[in-house]
Amino acid sequence: MEGELIVRNIAELATPLGFSARRGAEMAEIRRVADAAIVAENGAITYAGPAAGSAFLEAAGRASTRGAIEIDAEGRACVPGFVDSHTHFVFGGYRADEFFWRAEGLPYMEIHKRGGGIGRTTAATRAATTEELLASGRARLKTMLSLGVTTVEGKSGYGLDLGTELCQLEVMAALAGEQPVDIVRTFLGPHSIPREFAGRSSDYIDFVVGEVLPRVAERGLAEFADIFCEEGVFGLEDSRRYLVAARALGLKLKLHADEIVRLGGAGLAASLSAVSADHLLKASPEDLAAMGRAGVIATCLPLTAFTLREPYADARGMIDRGLAVALASDLNPGSCYSQSIPLIFALAALYMRLSFAETLTALTLNGAAALGRAASLGSIEPGKRADFLLLDAPETSHLAYHVGMNIVGQVFKNGVREYRRA
Ligand code: NIG
Ligand code: FE
Repeated sequence: MEGELIVRNIAELATPLGFSARRGAEMAEIRRVADAAIVAENGAITYAGPAAGSAFLEAAGRASTRGAIEIDAEGRACVPGFVDSHTHFVFGGYRADEFFWRAEGLPYMEIHKRGGGIGRTTAATRAATTEELLASGRARLKTMLSLGVTTVEGKSGYGLDLGTELCQLEVMAALAGEQPVDIVRTFLGPHSIPREFAGRSSDYIDFVVGEVLPRVAERGLAEFADIFCEEGVFGLEDSRRYLVAARALGLKLKLHADEIVRLGGAGLAASLSAVSADHLLKASPEDLAAMGRAGVIATCLPLTAFTLREPYADARGMIDRGLAVALASDLNPGSCYSQSIPLIFALAALYMRLSFAETLTALTLNGAAALGRAASLGSIEPGKRADFLLLDAPETSHLAYHVGMNIVGQVFKNGVREYRRA
C-alpha cells in the first residue's frame, strides 16, 4: 500500500502543533525533538517523536507488518512541508522589463495605469493555449516541490473574461491530478479592470457577479474568492459587493488588502470574517486589531515587499497583538517573480524580526489555516497527512541561516517520497 513509512535517525524534528491557526505568542511554541522518528500509515502520521520507547516501537511494528518502507534520515533535520498560501502561478508571458523599470524608480501602480502590469499579463494569458498554461504551471509546481512546498494556493485573475478565468482554474484542477503538490484554487476575477470595462469598475463587478462567479461556483472550480482591493482598482464598496456575492455562493473569502495605500481592506476583511487578508503593508492598527478579533489570518508576503522595495508588513507587531500570521510567496509575473521559500526565511529573520519558530509556523500550520486545511495539514503529529521534509542540514535553523539557499533534500507527500535532490 502507498504511504506506509518509517523514518528513523532524524537529528532534529521541529514542528508547530495543533489543528487550527496559532495566534500571537502561540506561534513561537513549536515542538523540537532530537533523535526523532516518524511513522505513517496510509499517508497519515501515526507517530512523531523520539526514536525510542514503547509508543514508537508499537507504531513502527504496526507499520512494518503493513509493509512500510524504512528510511534512514542519516542525521538530517525535519520540518513539515511548506504551505504556500498565496500565489498566482498560472499565467502567460513575462514582464522582465517592468522589473528593471521599477528598479530605476517607476512605481508599480504607474506601470499598471499605463497598461502594463496585470493588463499585460492578461493579454498574454488570453493569447496562451491551454497546453502552454499547463506546461508553465507544471514547471513551476516542480520547482515548488523541490523547495519543499507540498500544498499551494493558486489564483485566477489573468483572464478577466469568462473563458480565460475558467481556463486558469481548469488548468489548476488538471495539474492537481497529475503531480503530488496539493492545489487549492481561488477565483480572483476582480484582479484588475479589463480594457473592455476601462473606467467602469462597478460594471465589471456586475459582470463578474452576474456572469462569472455563478459558473465558477456551479462547477466547483474554486474554494476561495479574492479581490485586489486597492486605490485605482476596486474600492471598498465594489469589494464588499463582490465578496458578499461570493460568500452567498459558498466560497470562502480572501482579500489583497492595503498593499499600496491604506484603503481599509483589512477592516473589510474583518467585517466579512474573511479567512485571510493578504499583503497588509499599509493596514491601519485599528483594522489589524479588528482582524485579530474576527480571527482573520494576516498573510504577509515579504518577497513582494522586497521586490517592490516597500517596507515590510509589520508581522512583528501583528504577532505581538495576538494575530495569526501566515507567510507566503505571492509568486506572480509582476510584483514578485519568485517562489523562494529560502529567501522568505531569511527576510523574516533579518528584516521582519520574527523568530525561527514563528517563521516556521507561518509557513506551515498558519499557511494551512489560511487555506482552511489546518485540521489535516501543516504540522507533524498524529492525525495529519504525512507531508514533511528532510533537510540537507543537521539543524532546522539552517533554513534561515543558510541564507537564500535551498537545503531541502527530500520531500514526502502523503507518506510517499516525491522528491529527492540529485
Ligand atoms: O499580489 N497586487 C495584485 N496582485 C499581485 C500582482 C499581480 C501582478 O503584478 O501581475 C500581487 O502583488
Ligand atoms: Fe497576490
